[in-house]
Amino acid sequence: MKVFITGKIPVAAKELLLKEGFDVSVYTRDNSIPSDILMKKVRNVDAVISLLTEKFSEDIIAWMQRCKIIANYAVGFNNIDLKAAKEKGIIVTNTPDILTNATADITMSLVLACARNIIHGSELIKSMMWKGWRAEQLLGIELNGKTFGIAGAGRIGTAVAVRAKSFGTKIIYYNRSKNSELEKLTGAKKVSLNKLVESSDVISLHLPLTPATFHIIDKDKINRMKKNAVLVNTARGEIVDESELIKALKAGKLFSAGFDVYTNEPNINKELYKLKNVVLLPHIGSATFEARNGMAILAAQNVINVLQGKKPLTPVC
Ligand code: GLV
Ligand code: GLV
Repeated sequence: MKVFITGKIPVAAKELLLKEGFDVSVYTRDNSIPSDILMKKVRNVDAVISLLTEKFSEDIIAWMQRCKIIANYAVGFNNIDLKAAKEKGIIVTNTPDILTNATADITMSLVLACARNIIHGSELIKSMMWKGWRAEQLLGIELNGKTFGIAGAGRIGTAVAVRAKSFGTKIIYYNRSKNSELEKLTGAKKVSLNKLVESSDVISLHLPLTPATFHIIDKDKINRMKKNAVLVNTARGEIVDESELIKALKAGKLFSAGFDVYTNEPNINKELYKLKNVVLLPHIGSATFEARNGMAILAAQNVINVLQGKKPLTPVC
């Protein structure tokens, strides 16, 4: 049986698949796979391991002749048309859990970088402009005693809350359902999204991207934010109305914003390059050796299970 991997991932995946006797091919060039090559490659394979940069639309899913599983190499799966996959009997899996700590760590990195001018400080020295210690140089915001709002309290949101709690913040969260574990771990209180954006000094987004969450942080929500709030997005760019956020940042409404994800990656809104009060990361939330290797093994194991007639480990609903 044939497995196609749509881009370079840690070799552990291929090794596991080869050990089970599958015929594995990988798109190994550094660019994202062009759609004509993707179409050709997926036509006759039994399984695909897909990257979040590849869109599996209704059309491409209809075109696939024998595929039984699309194992997404990501926790998010907004790049795959789930309805089309389901109708075709294709199982879709993701890679939850294994990347939770890595993503929570990068979230706190962004929060601290935004609140404490980490990038500005580094740039000041590298530009050879540092004239010495000054009492009011690069003043930032302390986390202790502040309200930390988590929008989307899944595994990652919970792991971020635990970290934020250890910095002395008060945690509030917005989520469809109550998260008792989060409440027990951090004393967090569940609030409406309006209340969250109005009361938080730091707002961190951890919602999945769905039609219901597209631009959920819109002009109204941005206007409700505190004057010196820090906003961090490590989930998906399209959760935020980015052009409205850029307007607010330009107007100095927020203290700063940290981005790991964007609308239309990697061709991001050019206004972002000019803003002083942003920290921009290239979608590296799960980019640790531990997480990316674990994701490779989990994606491969999902493929192996499905092709051997067993249940996948981490199907998406
Ligand atoms: C990364 O963005 C992921 O969804 O795993
Ligand atoms: C989302 O899927 C999460 O793991 O938080």
